[in-house]
Amino acid sequence: MAARVPVAVLISGRGSNMAALIEAAAGPDYPARIALVLANVADAPGLAIAAAAGVPTMAIPHRDFGRDRAAHERALHAVLTGAGVALVCLAGYMRLLTPVLVGAWAGRMINIHPSLLPAFPGLDTHARALAAGVKLHGCTVHRVTEVMDQGPILAQAAVPVLPGDTEDALAARVLAAEHRLYPAALAALARGEAGQPAPAGAILANPLPPGGDGD
Ligand code: GRF
Repeated sequence: MAARVPVAVLISGRGSNMAALIEAAAGPDYPARIALVLANVADAPGLAIAAAAGVPTMAIPHRDFGRDRAAHERALHAVLTGAGVALVCLAGYMRLLTPVLVGAWAGRMINIHPSLLPAFPGLDTHARALAAGVKLHGCTVHRVTEVMDQGPILAQAAVPVLPGDTEDALAARVLAAEHRLYPAALAALARGEAGQPAPAGAILANPLPPGGDGD
């Protein structure tokens, strides 16, 4: 098999999508390897999960840079470059990015967002989906561009909104779909298949759980 593509994952918090990527990358045929987990918060819980899995970690707290977002991003970029990664996955990275980092990684940085974009960009997606009364919700992996949550879509997974759903129940159903979608989308990108017809599994069309709300 060809050399696996080295990937960095950027996180701010619990890192469950990061953990899903690390788990997938442990598979013998996975085309990418997680070379680094980088956080902008020193005590992001995901850092300990990554370290326990044997993945190198680093925190570069944005607070150390005051209001100078560009300086923080230059520091991130230096570490990413030094680690030799080819792709960057944002996974719950809760900072708006500037053209400094987005430009440096154009075409090589992807994000997962908890809605079916272009619906519900931004925050509180599950509450907004419930308020809007949509019957399908889900998640999107997209390329990162300078406009938040608007880069080209690589893959999506849909889940049903069920009668009586709470925000937490819907969030859990979407998160389970995220954990399947992100590894599939990264694999497609690492194999150079992004932009081609989606590989089986990269698009999970409305995967109704058996017997209803199974997640
Ligand atoms: C996920 O819902 C992701 O889609 C969004 O932030 C959340 C991060 O969760 N961007 P986790 O840190 O991966 O558990």
